[in-house]
Amino acid sequence: DCVPREFPAGTVCVCNATHCDDIEPLESFIAPGTAILYRSDSKGGRMDKSTVKQTSNPARITIEIDASTTFQEIIGFGGAFTDAVGVNLAALSNPAQDNLLRQYYGPSGAEYTLTRVPIAACDFSLRIYTYDDNQPGEDFNMTNFALANDDYQYKIPHLKQALELQKDNGGLKLFATPWTPPIWMKDEGDTFHGGALLKGEQDGPYYASYAKYFVKFFEAYLSEGLPFWAVTLQNEPSDWNTIFPTAKYQSNFIKNHLAPALKASPAAANLKILGLDDQRVYLPEWADEFAEDADALALLDGIAVHWYADHAKPASVLSEVHEKHPDKFILYTEACNGSPTSGNPAGPSLGNYTYGENYAHSIIEDLNNWVSGWTDWNLALNTQGGYSWFMNFVDSPIIVETNTNEFLKQPMYYVMAHFSKFLKPGARVVKLSMTRELPEKVKAIGAVMVDGKRYVTILNRDDYEDVTVSLHEKGVGSVYSTVTVPVHSLVTVIWTKY
Ligand SMILES: *[C@@H]1O[C@H](CO)[C@@H](O)[C@H](O)[C@H]1NC(C)=O
Ligand SMILES: *[C@@H]1O[C@H](CO)[C@@H](O)[C@H](O)[C@H]1NC(C)=O
Ligand SMILES: *[C@@H]1O[C@H](CO)[C@@H](O)[C@H](O)[C@H]1NC(C)=O
Repeated sequence: DCVPREFPAGTVCVCNATHCDDIEPLESFIAPGTAILYRSDSKGGRMDKSTVKQTSNPARITIEIDASTTFQEIIGFGGAFTDAVGVNLAALSNPAQDNLLRQYYGPSGAEYTLTRVPIAACDFSLRIYTYDDNQPGEDFNMTNFALANDDYQYKIPHLKQALELQKDNGGLKLFATPWTPPIWMKDEGDTFHGGALLKGEQDGPYYASYAKYFVKFFEAYLSEGLPFWAVTLQNEPSDWNTIFPTAKYQSNFIKNHLAPALKASPAAANLKILGLDDQRVYLPEWADEFAEDADALALLDGIAVHWYADHAKPASVLSEVHEKHPDKFILYTEACNGSPTSGNPAGPSLGNYTYGENYAHSIIEDLNNWVSGWTDWNLALNTQGGYSWFMNFVDSPIIVETNTNEFLKQPMYYVMAHFSKFLKPGARVVKLSMTRELPEKVKAIGAVMVDGKRYVTILNRDDYEDVTVSLHEKGVGSVYSTVTVPVHSLVTVIWTKY
């Protein structure tokens, strides 16, 4: 069970080397006449499980699930394995480390199926580095390319464990993202400069060389037993420490350099290629500009989106992008609370349920607008919200207490599990219709799970009104699962269609 600890902002569940609360498993067989309910809330509920008896009388609001009207297929849910995650894991004893990884990847945890891995350093690293630094001149052939000690210490051993934990349970897709190329390749020679270009003229030697850099990364990780599923071209090209500021630079590089180089390497030939990897305010324009090059568009598999500026553009822009480019999937690839730009205090707000609610709201809204999966940022940070050489402290679903061999599971962790545990790769978002409009602060998402079970998650962010709804399947007679979703709670209901 959860061992609670109170903080001014809320409650966390404390884990150590010998104890951690499990999420109660979902049975493969759900008895006719019943549904299973999981609930998390602002009062300390953490994926609490119960059984609902179905009845023949609906409540005032009915949500009808229409499993024959299907939308996008789920790719997965997960988080990111930054160097900071490995640094924080290293502060725990081996059994506590194992416990922490099991929370994310194990069958009694959130069962993540997606993990983002930075190519070299990001702001959540001990230092800034790439895999081909310290060149007196150019190394166009990437002859001196080498993974860093940071990879061997902080990422590779844990990623292998994660892969092992998830191998029989939906699998684990890894995707990689670079922040910056080696400095000697950049026109400004300055790592921090945002919106820089590669040196020299477009398609010159630096371009071909940078494509080699990607290939070498995937070859090096594969030789450690870690195959990748996808690559995003550039983290937040609009921000600091980046290149490829426009969709045109991205489409050109993918078409003329990256895609051909990946295809030529057995370690990278099947990688999905994702563009943008930045805020949704750049949509739909980014996609339209990219699409001006039809050859490049044919090589692009998906569009990667971050959540930080969601307030500046409604989620409907995601549907707009889907309608214009229906063969490109849309994947959320980064999100966190407590970032210095969010207007909230930077770093963790221990136990704060509102932070979990923010995740749930974003995920439901995004899935209702053709997004295929959602990736959290750092899997685990310390109590300050690091380690971050850039002092860019933020929050994370799991916080490591580096002095006591403990880690703290926050509401965000359980919120992620409401989705990740049940919506495995291949699940499908389906149509929901309500007999009455849901109150403004109540949102719902419906899906059919991989094994055919029906799944509905309902979020109530209201301060005053509990909402009672009856879930019903289209075409099935008077069978209703009636549930109450109290203020500031998240409820998942799952049943089998007979
Ligand atoms: C939780 O975080 C929200 C958003 O930053 C903040 O407004 C609220 O005060 C926090 N709650 C508590 C109890 O500190
Ligand atoms: C780990 O947590 C459990 C449950 O709270 C507690 O009984 C146990 O003493 C803890 N172990 C250590 C070494 O603190
Ligand atoms: C780079 O590799 C190519 C092809 O293998 C080779 O012809 C060329 O001499 C190499 N250049 C350098 C500077 O090592």
